[in-house]
Amino acid sequence: METTFDNKVVLVTGASSGIGEAIALLFAKCGAKLSLVGRNEKNLQDVAARCAAEKGIQPFVIVADLSTDEGCEKTAKDTLDVLVNNAGISARTCIQVTDMKIFDDVFNTDVRGVYNLTRLLVPALIESKGNIVNISSISGTVVVVGSLPYGMAKAALDHFTRLVALELAPKGVRVNAVSPGLTVSNIVKRITGYTEEEYQNWLKKGEKTVPMGEVCVGEDIAKMVVHLASDHSRLVTGAIVQVDGGLQFCGGLNIYSEQIK
Ligand SMILES: NC(=O)c1ccc[n+]([C@@H]2O[C@H](COP(=O)([O-])OP(=O)(O)OC[C@H]3O[C@@H](n4cnc5c(N)ncnc54)[C@H](OP(=O)(O)O)[C@@H]3O)[C@@H](O)[C@H]2O)c1
Repeated sequence: METTFDNKVVLVTGASSGIGEAIALLFAKCGAKLSLVGRNEKNLQDVAARCAAEKGIQPFVIVADLSTDEGCEKTAKDTLDVLVNNAGISARTCIQVTDMKIFDDVFNTDVRGVYNLTRLLVPALIESKGNIVNISSISGTVVVVGSLPYGMAKAALDHFTRLVALELAPKGVRVNAVSPGLTVSNIVKRITGYTEEEYQNWLKKGEKTVPMGEVCVGEDIAKMVVHLASDHSRLVTGAIVQVDGGLQFCGGLNIYSEQIK
């Protein structure tokens, strides 16, 4: 069966960079009518132009900060078939050095924003019998010193996925999550300020800890998102699917902790 999203409206948050950009491009290849959300308008317009080049369908660009109520309200739409909650930020801290700003920043984006936007879009998804794919992280499962409060936020997102999946199953709305391992994007550079060279060195170190010996690229995650959002997965709901080359089995991976002695 071919995967097509012809005439389907797909909203991707955090589409201006990294994994979200790859998700948007793959949905564009499958013929979706896209809405792309992020804070950086220039990056969003660049991604929108690349999506439009695939099948000639111009995405709708929404510049919004999803950690705020106004940003979520601005993003909510009346018509929607697939919601991809991908926007997220990370942090590197631990209980001995943390402050409440880091906690609020991470939880407002990675948990509160997803909760709020999903709440606002559920009526449209019930109407279309659509589905939701959340982008979690293996940090929500694997315990690593330094991934506080990000790991907590992603653990909350995993349980949110299960709870909402159960609630919406009788309404024909599926809810799943993809849980990436180490994936090439801008998230680590944002929190560390690494140069591209430092980031490449960091990735090489990380790669050695992955059982399959490779880090993921955005397209690896995007393929699973599209699969879960498609009719190929018509009876899949409440699933948290790891795409990580087996990193989930390496509990205690310590690539964050070097900065916190
Ligand atoms: N890369 C990894 O190794 C990895 C591993 C596991 C899970 N993940 C998850 O994958 C998702 C995507 O991250 P990424 O790695 O692709 O990072 P990224 O390159 O930094 O992209 C993050 C995206 O989220 C958007 N975003 C962040 N805060 C936002 C806000 N308040 N309002 C609206 N948009 C916001 C950013 O938009 P602007 O730049 O326009 O603000 C950007 O498009 C996240 O949920 C992350 O936790 C990543």
